[in-house]
Amino acid sequence: MDQNQLKQAVAQAAVDYTLKRIEDDSIVGIGTGSTANCFIDLIAKHRHRFQGTVASSEASAERLRSHGIPVFELNAVAEVHIYIDGADEANPQLELIKGGGAALTREKIVTAVANEFVCIADESKWVDYLGTFPLPVEVIPMARSHVARELVKLGGDPVWRENVVTDNGNLILDVHHLYPMGSACELEEKINQITGVVTNGLFAIKPADILFLATQQGIVTHTAISQG
Ligand code: 5RP
Repeated sequence: MDQNQLKQAVAQAAVDYTLKRIEDDSIVGIGTGSTANCFIDLIAKHRHRFQGTVASSEASAERLRSHGIPVFELNAVAEVHIYIDGADEANPQLELIKGGGAALTREKIVTAVANEFVCIADESKWVDYLGTFPLPVEVIPMARSHVARELVKLGGDPVWRENVVTDNGNLILDVHHLYPMGSACELEEKINQITGVVTNGLFAIKPADILFLATQQGIVTHTAISQG
């Protein structure tokens, strides 16, 4: 299977799982990216099985609406029952790097609200240690240079993702050579402490609850508990 077929396969596994977990009045959180897009397209025919969705980006909201799936403002819902999203890297603790699509802040917000965070990825995203994929950091525009200097002090090599403005009107710095070999939670916290940072793409303080990984041998399910 090629990478696209793997994404389709893992999205279908997540649709099957989601349908078992939701009720008629459930709100489903929808992530951003090509794997999340596969999920949107596959869940569309089951749209009568849940009340609606909240989306982690304008692009996903638009795609959901194009399928006739209701999209609610996060502030308008009391609960998000399940959140499905991709990742750029995932390790055995189900800690993630996200934000390749510049949607990390809204992704982190929906993750914070959701009862269950289901990550879907193809096997190219599975790593022993996070950090090969440059870590996206969303910054307030006027703080870009300040934040970049602070990230250099942490040992990183930040690169401004030019021509990208997030859905929140902010900028992205992609930080190379930052390997959270110690505690990813500590690094996540430390970067978020820099004035001008909105958030960073480490999802370690609240990792995924379950990861469906598409491999050439089939879908492998990883849970945080089984990984100890
Ligand atoms: C967007 C993300 C995506 O989940 C991540 O970039 C993976 O994308 P894809 O499914 O296209 O590989 O974090 O901000």
